Amino acid sequence: MSYTICLIEGDGIGHEVIPAGRTLLEAVGLDLTFVQAEAGWATFQREGTALPQATIAAVRAADATLFGAVSSPLSRVDGYRSPIVGLRRELDLYANLRPVRSQPLAATRAGIDMLIVRENSEGLYAGRERATDDEAITERVITRRGSERIVRLACELALQRRKALTIVHKANVLRATCGLFREVAFAVTAEYPGLLVDELLVDTAAMRLITDPERFDVLVTTNLFGDILSDEAAALVGGLGLAPAGNIGVVAAIFEPVHGSAPDIAGQGIANPLATFGAVAMLLQHLGEVAWAGRVERAIEQVIAAGPLTPDLGGQATTAQVTARVIACL
Ligand code: NAI
Ligand code: MG
Repeated sequence: MSYTICLIEGDGIGHEVIPAGRTLLEAVGLDLTFVQAEAGWATFQREGTALPQATIAAVRAADATLFGAVSSPLSRVDGYRSPIVGLRRELDLYANLRPVRSQPLAATRAGIDMLIVRENSEGLYAGRERATDDEAITERVITRRGSERIVRLACELALQRRKALTIVHKANVLRATCGLFREVAFAVTAEYPGLLVDELLVDTAAMRLITDPERFDVLVTTNLFGDILSDEAAALVGGLGLAPAGNIGVVAAIFEPVHGSAPDIAGQGIANPLATFGAVAMLLQHLGEVAWAGRVERAIEQVIAAGPLTPDLGGQATTAQVTARVIACL
């Protein structure tokens, strides 16, 4: 098979970790064609938009995209919109996938291997807000279609794993919105008799992630809950520096490290590329190249266990040295 991969470096250490990701992809035995596209703060300053139409078209045309990170101004700048949020919206990337796996690091809990499947397009982040001087209201939008497609994807992914799915909601309080999500979730999961399905209230889920994270396989939940729980879970296994994410839609898929553009270390050649390599493994999995995805994951684990590591993980290695070692471990 041959694939077209779109690369978006973005800003800051995106210019370091995405070329490293490309080097890793070139070392994999697949026929890949690379297309570069632009997005982010520097793009905005040059072109007046952080997300050019050509970039949206390139992501749409590619089989998958690897995205670095962008810098966002702290205060509001006219015309600037976050490109990753824009891409999610333009391409209807309705699912956010966050794998959370124990790593051979002192700071990591052993025995954790879960996948958080977060609805990425509606819920409290649907952008329906209004305010007066004395009252502010954010509407929470949950649809039958949105709930159905995210739960169906979670079921399909659970079938490829340990076949256990936990539905996370707060239907006892949010009766209308979480009530609909829960009703649809149980209707969809009924079509998957091979899965072990259970449910947790989101506050209980937050606690169980700390007390017994080993019990979870796949969790599926709405947008805000998934945002919070996925960062909580990432903290159990080495933090954001190792965490990858996928944004999945029908026409496109974008994989990225969870971290930002790290302006404090940009340009020094010491950015940790391992979160990006985790995103590369997810990208390969998404393409159906399961064997290569597994080899990349095992190579990452070997390097975490034996080094060399970048300074954020207590080592002294450069991005290039870690990249070379991961490729040697392939
Ligand atoms: P950040 O993730 O960029 O950095 C936080 C801390 O972690 C910094 O000390 C940084 O040096 C370190 N760090 C992050 N990634 C690292 C890596 N791969 N290797 C070694 N150290 C790493 O978050 P911060 O500082 O809050 O945001 C910086 C910029 O990134 C902001 O403009 C923010 O808006 C943007 N950002 C972009 C994201 C994206 O494009 N998806 C996500 C998060 C933040
Ligand atoms: Mg977040």
